[in-house]
Amino acid sequence: MKSVLYPGSFDPFTNGHLDLVIRARQLFDRVVVAVAVNSDKRPLFTLEERKQLIEKSCSLLSNVEVVTFTGLLVEAIDDFHAQAVLRGLRAFSDFEYELQMALMNRNLKPRCETIFMMPTLKNSFVSSSRVKEIAMLGGSIENYVPKPVADAVRAKLAAGKKG
Ligand code: PNS
Repeated sequence: MKSVLYPGSFDPFTNGHLDLVIRARQLFDRVVVAVAVNSDKRPLFTLEERKQLIEKSCSLLSNVEVVTFTGLLVEAIDDFHAQAVLRGLRAFSDFEYELQMALMNRNLKPRCETIFMMPTLKNSFVSSSRVKEIAMLGGSIENYVPKPVADAVRAKLAAGKKG
C-alpha cells in the first residue's frame, strides 16, 4: 500500500489544499494530511481545531486520514508509514522555499522523497494567509475554502471581536 504524507500548517485548510488531497488520492492508496505545529506562526486555529476542520472538509473522501505532529517531518513519515511527502506548488515564488525544505529533509533522511503537485488554476492564488486577511477585513471567503472552514473562520473572528 502506497501512502503519502501531506504536511502543512493548514491555518486554515483551503480549496487549494483540498484540490491537492483529491489529486493525491488518484496516485496513492492512502493520503495522510499531517497538521504541524509551526512555531514561527501564530495560528488562528488550534492544532486540534485545524485537524477537525480538515476531517469535516474531507469527510466524503475515503482513504484520507488527518493527523497532527509536533516534531520533525522526517520522523512523521516513519510514524505514519508514508513512502513520500507531498507539497503543493502554486507559483514560481513557492519554489525556493520548497526546494530547500525537500533537500534538507532528504539530507536528514535519504529515503524522504518529496512530490510536488500543482492545484488547478482557480486555486493557484489561494493561500491561508490571504483567506485570513480577506475574512478579517470583512470580505467573502466562500469561494476559497470548504464550507466548514468558512463557517469556522467567521465564528472565530466574531468570537475574537466579542472577547
Ligand atoms: O503550510 P506550511 O506552513 O508551509 O508547512 C510547513 C511545514 C509544517 C511542512 C514545515 O514547517 C515542517 O515540515 N515542519 C515540521 C518541522 C521540520 O521538520 N522542520 C524542518 C523542515 S526542513
